Amino acid sequence: MTPSDPRGAIFLDPAAYADQAHWHAVAAGLRAQAPVLRIEEEGYTPFWAVTRHEDVFAVALDNEHFLNTRNSILAPDLQMEYLKSIGIEGETLIHMDGEEHAAHRGLANDWFRPRAVARRQEGIDAIADQFVDKFRQLDGNCDFAQDIAVPYTMRVIMSIFGVPAEDEPMMLKLTQGIFGAADPEYLGDLSDPMELLTDTIAQFDQYFGELTEDRRAHPTEDLATVIANGEVNGCPMDANARLWYYTIVATAGHDTTSFALSGGVEALLRRPEQVALLQSRPELVNNAVDEMIRWTSPVRHFLRYLTRPATLSGVEIPEGDRLLLSYPSANRDERMFDQPMEFDAARPNANRMVAFGGGEHFCLGSTFARRELRTILPRLLAAVDTIEVAGEAEWAQANFVGGVKHLPVAATFR
Ligand code: HEM
Repeated sequence: MTPSDPRGAIFLDPAAYADQAHWHAVAAGLRAQAPVLRIEEEGYTPFWAVTRHEDVFAVALDNEHFLNTRNSILAPDLQMEYLKSIGIEGETLIHMDGEEHAAHRGLANDWFRPRAVARRQEGIDAIADQFVDKFRQLDGNCDFAQDIAVPYTMRVIMSIFGVPAEDEPMMLKLTQGIFGAADPEYLGDLSDPMELLTDTIAQFDQYFGELTEDRRAHPTEDLATVIANGEVNGCPMDANARLWYYTIVATAGHDTTSFALSGGVEALLRRPEQVALLQSRPELVNNAVDEMIRWTSPVRHFLRYLTRPATLSGVEIPEGDRLLLSYPSANRDERMFDQPMEFDAARPNANRMVAFGGGEHFCLGSTFARRELRTILPRLLAAVDTIEVAGEAEWAQANFVGGVKHLPVAATFR
């Protein structure tokens, strides 16, 4: 890829995220020299990459001046047009603004409030215990990302969703088809990422269509029942919005959190003194989890569109233009974080990270994600005597949601 400014390739090229050292070096240069950089690349509507913490946060908080619209994820224009032409248009909370967004978010909001999530703690404890046991059964030798992080976060979210455990592998495949469409590992027999994407959406449609019928006929206490029977302004939710509601919970609900866990654990293991710190001061776990999320920033961007001209870091941007909010860059901003390229479980302001965004779209599942990580991390650290990285860690090639997808580890137990 050769965008108008070659530095823009770090936002466009999925493979660029797999080389984290290079990615962060380029982003640091942008924060210093061109914190709001216009990027033009053939096939893409131009956008401005926003890389400083202060700017990303300010834009996220101002939902009147900066809209999400139906195009809030970066993709080639042709791909968006093609999907639209075959009747596929994203309609998740992320694709909505204003009243439409508030009305849809209101449907599931109660499920994700801190008190509601706290009531799930016993269930999360039990699932975390199962996966620490699994780690023991594997003798501590495994691909931590695929054997522990992915299935653990999947089981937690599916347990509230109401999708049975036997369907989890399929959910996983579907998630990879949406988030990992650009990664050759997930393409399988298909040669074209678009084919994988449309195929995946069709499968989600069928699966969730059947789930809707079932939960309408036999309502239960799960989140799927809420979505199946959800009403917006007194009418049943539009079928497309319903499909995408399921889809965002099923995908955003585990892939993000599993990448925070696998990448956070990798960061810890590469710094044995941090493992020792957490083992001796378990009260640091909440802070360590925020540092893991800052460090990994599994969601790489969302887009915002200007309803009026704006000035960010001295750069004037006209009405109608679009911004790419770079969460991984904002979370390594030296203006906000001391020594941002260091992983520090005791970092005093780790909770200032913007990995969950902000404003009206602030991550619906943030309390869940934090709780999942806070539950399993101390159990793992209490169980192991030694633990280390035992091979190459591999990063997903994805410019939307990604992180460490393979992490060979070796552990001994107490
Ligand atoms: C470490 C894990 C996670 C990260 C880093 C993350 C990140 C994000 C980000 C950056 C946004 C957009 C915020 C904005 O536009 O300002 C978002 C929105 C969202 N997230 Fe998460 N997320 C995580 C876990 C979860 C989980 C566990 C769920 C559970 C279902 C979830 C569900 C959602 C939903 C439904 C939205 C859309 C909210 C809206 O537009 O109103 N996320 N997340």
